[in-house]
Amino acid sequence: MQLINATAMITGGCSGLGLASARALVAAGANVVLIDINEQAGAEQTETLGTAKALYVSADVTNEPQVSAALELAVERFGQIDICVNCAGIAPAERTLNKSAQPASLHTFTKTMAINLSGTFNVARLAAAKMAGNTAQADERGVIINTASIAGYEGQIGQTAYAASKAGIIGMTLPMARDLAAVGIRVNSIAPGIMATPLLTAMPQPVQDALGANVPFPKRLGLPEEFARLVLHIVENAYINGETIRLDGGLRMQPK
Ligand SMILES: NC(=O)c1ccc[n+]([C@@H]2O[C@H](COP(=O)([O-])OP(=O)(O)OC[C@H]3O[C@@H](n4cnc5c(N)ncnc54)[C@H](O)[C@@H]3O)[C@@H](O)[C@H]2O)c1
Repeated sequence: MQLINATAMITGGCSGLGLASARALVAAGANVVLIDINEQAGAEQTETLGTAKALYVSADVTNEPQVSAALELAVERFGQIDICVNCAGIAPAERTLNKSAQPASLHTFTKTMAINLSGTFNVARLAAAKMAGNTAQADERGVIINTASIAGYEGQIGQTAYAASKAGIIGMTLPMARDLAAVGIRVNSIAPGIMATPLLTAMPQPVQDALGANVPFPKRLGLPEEFARLVLHIVENAYINGETIRLDGGLRMQPK
């Protein structure tokens, strides 16, 4: 799919990997709709991206009416939705039993699954319903990109909820691509390793260096811009479908 004048909706678009994707998409000539719960960042980032090409809509990915309303606003503003990038997510850490043998919180587990997995599915299915009405370009009506994590393959200690939610995203990628093939919508996921987003760049430099040193090559954290470049490539390369692509410098995470 061509990027120029395409419209991309990006959940979690006000920070980190979603924001880097929004910047790259605008630079490539696309319009972007940032869907996020951080209203202050939404106002700031649309200003920086340029209000002619960027729209912010406040919506929680787990909330069906809010996401539906956000899609309506996006279509009203830019005509149609061609690309959906799901980046909204949370990453709590809690061992199944803590050091006093108390069980982990069920609430944290279900909340993580609700935002990371059900939220991704909710947005993807509603975006697909809009994309299905697009006029096909070279047989294609839309592209959906979900964000998994290498924790979905090798989750670390304390990552049961996070790893389960990301493994769910990896698991639904192929069946969703198969479901949507008939309408010309491709579905792929990116499984990043350790990326230099605000959560990590807020850590002391020695901690960041230690994390980077575990990466085979290059020995550093991944850059949000590298994630964004892969988003653009997936959109433009019509033959990538039903796949989860690791973006991790060859890292295979150890238990901790
Ligand atoms: N940073 C990494 O190292 C890394 C590695 C692997 C996977 N990931 C995944 O990439 C995605 C983005 O991570 P990031 O580091 O950019 O995170 P981030 O915290 O910088 O950005 C996440 C954004 O999602 C938004 N958000 C959270 N809950 C939401 C909800 N219910 N509805 C709408 N928006 C919501 C937040 O407001 C925030 O703007 C996440 O799914 C994360 O699990 C990140």
